[in-house]
Amino acid sequence: MNHSAATASQTKATAFQNDPRVAEAKRLIAEALAEHTESLNAVAEPDPELKDAYQGFIADYAAARGGPPLWPYFASGLGNGPYVELADGSVKLDFIGGIGVHGCGHSHPAIIEAGIDAALEDTVMQGNLQQNVPSVEMLSRLIELASQSGAPLEHGLLSTSGAMANENALKLAFHHNQPANRIIAFDNAFAGRSIALAALTDRPAYRNGIPLAIQVDYLPFLDPKDPAGSTQQAVAKLKQLLARHPGKYAAFWAEPVAGEGGYYAGSHDFFAALCGPLRDAGVSIVFDEVQSFSRTSKPFAFQHYGLDEFADIVTVGKITQVCATLYRKDFHPTAPILSQTFTGSSSSIQTGLETLRQLDAANCFGENGSNVTRHAYFADQLERLGKKHPGLIAGPYGEGMMIGFTPGDGSLDQAKLLMNILYDLGLLGFLCGAAPVRLRFLPPPAITTHEHIDAAIALLDAGLTEFAAKRV
Ligand SMILES: Cc1ncc(COP(=O)(O)O)c(C=O)c1O
Repeated sequence: MNHSAATASQTKATAFQNDPRVAEAKRLIAEALAEHTESLNAVAEPDPELKDAYQGFIADYAAARGGPPLWPYFASGLGNGPYVELADGSVKLDFIGGIGVHGCGHSHPAIIEAGIDAALEDTVMQGNLQQNVPSVEMLSRLIELASQSGAPLEHGLLSTSGAMANENALKLAFHHNQPANRIIAFDNAFAGRSIALAALTDRPAYRNGIPLAIQVDYLPFLDPKDPAGSTQQAVAKLKQLLARHPGKYAAFWAEPVAGEGGYYAGSHDFFAALCGPLRDAGVSIVFDEVQSFSRTSKPFAFQHYGLDEFADIVTVGKITQVCATLYRKDFHPTAPILSQTFTGSSSSIQTGLETLRQLDAANCFGENGSNVTRHAYFADQLERLGKKHPGLIAGPYGEGMMIGFTPGDGSLDQAKLLMNILYDLGLLGFLCGAAPVRLRFLPPPAITTHEHIDAAIALLDAGLTEFAAKRV
């Protein structure tokens, strides 16, 4: 949408942004950035002289947080593509990106420039009461992308976290389907860390001591080993639930590709078989794309599986930098149930917009788009490694730029062992799933090349040799 119409008038802000001194300052920063990042193109050991200070950061964090970090990652603030420099001077190959956040990798020049543009805006934060123009552009672009293949998603609102986007989705679904008070989700679902979402998330440990805020029933997910049988099972369970609690379900909640739950891919047939009866029963359909957005053959995984007609509410986050809840017109609330002081920082909005541009520029999407071709390449390499290290890799699993495998016996201990071996070798991947526990990678879709995947595979190869010797 371009409302800049043919007029000679411009605001003082536009004049400031276009001031040649600003352009020159940006040019100098870009030049310095290129020089300082150039050598960050392979994993590297820590600098021994920075080790003590680094141990100090870890100790300070542990003291402030009341326990050690999940892993000792404290970055220096500079990187190059998927390579990131840590504050001890080591360089890691970052194939997890803060769990799917850094879609353009580290220190991407266009993202830095967008960040500078945001820093030149008058305020750091934007919210429901006061928004700058890029906020409108971001929301409009997300709606445009979500509805591009027919999903009737016309409205939305931005928010600062995936959890808040999902809270807003839950509110919309309950409000629309009142007085229904139950949700249907999948085994292993993960939706975020608020009280309501802790009830929806299928991890009892994450709601230890927390009262159940909503009533949730669970369906089994698609089993890749038995697609037809598992679909039948899920549909049978769904029908049983709909009959047991008629009129009580406000929403069906689905991650099209199960993320934290273990990188289980969905399919058109599986979801279509469930969405039909759900539609008939008047249950709203919510696709949580906080992790899957931008990682499959289409911007949204519900589009990848051809489920556009079923999308009532869709949430995005992580890679979009600012999160959002997108919804059908008829879900627009009739009471003031949605509002936030912060909808995002100026920086998250401008860098989110730039990330969307970069994803397009990198040809991520399409049946032969780079998300699909890089998945095939990565999956082949993992299969090859699986043959070289029998019994140590099962899979691969996932879709596109969400890819994982089950290490060893699938236990938490073994997955952690391999994750930590890889961390020390310089490859960042993270755990997901419960039984089995998997190791997953979320390579940055806008910049990952086959050479980066080769580098990851070489580290994994070395890591698996060490893992074979150390696991019990
Ligand atoms: C599918 C899904 N939904 C929601 C969330 C929560 O997002 P946030 O951590 O930004 O609140 C996550 C985070 O991992 C997620 O993977």
